[in-house]
Order: sequence, then C-alpha cells, then structure tokens
Amino acid sequence: MLKYLKDYRWADMRQMLENNRATQRESTLRMDGKLCVVTGCTSGVGWEIARSLASFGASIVMVNRNKEKSELACNQLREDFGAKCSYLLANFSNLGQVRDAADSLVKAYDRIDLLVNNVGMHSTTLTRTSDGLETVFCVNHLASFTLTWKLLDTMRQSTPSRIIQVNSQGHRFGGLNPSDLNWRTRHYTGLRGYGAAKTAQLLTMWEFADLLKGSGVTINAVHPGAVRTHIGSNNGPLYRWFNDNIVSRTLKDPVIAGQAVHYLATAPELETISGKYFNLTHVETPAPHALDRQVGRMIWEESLRLAGLL
Ligand SMILES: NC(=O)c1ccc[n+]([C@@H]2O[C@H](COP(=O)([O-])OP(=O)(O)OC[C@H]3O[C@@H](n4cnc5c(N)ncnc54)[C@H](OP(=O)(O)O)[C@@H]3O)[C@@H](O)[C@H]2O)c1
Repeated sequence: MLKYLKDYRWADMRQMLENNRATQRESTLRMDGKLCVVTGCTSGVGWEIARSLASFGASIVMVNRNKEKSELACNQLREDFGAKCSYLLANFSNLGQVRDAADSLVKAYDRIDLLVNNVGMHSTTLTRTSDGLETVFCVNHLASFTLTWKLLDTMRQSTPSRIIQVNSQGHRFGGLNPSDLNWRTRHYTGLRGYGAAKTAQLLTMWEFADLLKGSGVTINAVHPGAVRTHIGSNNGPLYRWFNDNIVSRTLKDPVIAGQAVHYLATAPELETISGKYFNLTHVETPAPHALDRQVGRMIWEESLRLAGLL
C-alpha cells in the first residue's frame, strides 16, 4: 500500500478523509414498479441493499449461491414490505453458473431498472476455482464483469437504468499485475488479492461507462462503508477472532450501505452521472493505479477472455 501512496495528490487524500466524516445524501424516492437485480443478498451489504430497495417498493431479484438462505431472505422481504421477491442460484466462483444465471435473467425479464453487483469475498490464502482462476479475482471481479456484460442489452432496453458496482476502499491496496492476474508468479496476500480484484473492477468500469455513453444506462461504483458483515468468515480461526473482537468494534451498521445504494439508484441528480467512484454517497477520486486506462484496456481484454465471453 505504501508504495502506491506516493502517487496520490494531496487534494485527493484530503477529499477521501473528508468523505469519511461527511453527512450522507439521502433519497426518499419510491421505486414502485422497478425491477432490481441484486447479487449476494443473503447477508451484510447485499441484504441491506435488498431491504432498502424493497422498503421503497422495488421488486427484487436476488442472485445468490445458497437456496435456503435465499428462501429466508425473500420471505423476510415479502413479510416486512409486501415486496415481490424471487431468486436465482449461482456460485460466483463458477463462471459457467454466472453465465447461465445471466441467460435466465435475459429470458425472464424484458426490463431491468437496476443491477447491483455486490457479491464479494476476502481470502487470506491463495485458493483457486475449479477452472484454475484465483478465487477472489473470479468472485469479486470476473463474475460481476460477466453478469454486467451479458445484461448490457437488457439494461439498454430498460433506460433510464443504472448499474452499481459494490467496490471498496480496499482497491487502494493495489496488487493488480496484468501479466499475472492469476497469481502464478507472485507471493499472494489477502489484502493484495482483494485490492487486485477491486482495482480490476474499477478499471473495467471506466470501459463499461465509455461503452454505455449516451445510451441512458449509467454505471458507477460505491464503497459501501466499513461495515459489520460476514466478510472474511471463510478465513481461519485467528482471523475470525481478530475480526469479531477487534475490527468489528470500529465498523458501522451496514444499514448505511443500503441507504447509500438507494440514493445512488434513485437520485435525480445522478440520472446522467456515470463512470464515478462514490464513497457511500460522495464522489471520490480512486487510487491512481485504478485510473490507468492503458492497463484498464488490457484487463478488459483479459476479462473477456478469462470469462469465456469472446
Ligand atoms: N463489509 C465491509 O466493510 C465492506 C467494505 C467495502 C466493500 N465491501 C464489499 O461489499 C460486498 C458485500 O460484502 P459484505 O461485507 O456484505 O460480506 P458478506 O456479509 O460476507 O456478504 C457477501 C455476500 O456475497 C455472497 N457470496 C460470497 N461468495 C459467493 C460466491 N462464491 N457465490 C455467490 N455468492 C457469494 C454471500 O453469500 P453466502 O451467504 O452464501 O456466503 C453473501 O450474500 C463485497 O463486494 C465486499 O467487497 C464490504
């Protein structure tokens, strides 16, 4: 991280610190009749996003990996808000399942007003998917890239429509190397693996934003706050103890993430705003390494190839 700090502008650092203390913007706009696809709604940020959107009248389609948790989550939204809720199952460490989920969505819905790519994970050790991809890169970046790519036509058909990438200040940890996306030749650490995946998501978001310019579809990224969720619970007992007993005391209620995404999804002043990174509801300049468009175009090509989209 320190090696990346030297490239920062002071003004951007100051903005980041101010944003962390800022009062958040809010929207009270209803979303009746709007169809929202949200990934990873069984806990944490995704659950709060689904709750927040449903509380304003939106219909929710979840993309989760666990059937029982999805049933429970949908039932809860029906009970609490009388919301329309359904779900599709896909494990995001299997891009074939993500492509199938996208195909099912395209077949089932003529319009999607909002797509929120939220699924994410953090792993302290290097693991690989059954296709040989580094798992965090696959789950956090390639899967959301695949879903977005495959839903582009439906989103264009549904204008004005919005795409929100749940990103993270963790992109600032860096770690992305275009010639070693799969961590074959470098030492892996959890923070660098997470940073690499979130950086790739941002770099490809600028490309999506260009592709969608003038279409009526916007795409933006959000850091959902440092909030109390289940992230990292797949890691070892020491990590979990530290997280539960030390880190979690400093974290906020994830309800703020749901409120922020509802604002980003509905605020009229954001109708034509695209290709921005928000710290909750405030625009922020991401890390310099996440703004390198030349690297971004390389990651774009590699993502299309690795995700089997060519
Ligand atoms: N928590 C924070 O402070 C924080 C800060 C910045 C960014 N974020 C981002 O917020 C997003 C949500 O994370 P969270 O903190 O809410 O964590 P979380 O509580 O662990 O929720 C993660 C969600 O993603 C799902 N998921 C994980 N791996 C999956 C896979 N392979 N296939 C399908 N679904 C999968 C989980 O499903 P299961 O219930 O089946 O595990 C759950 O629904 C992530 O993108 C994360 O990077 C979080």
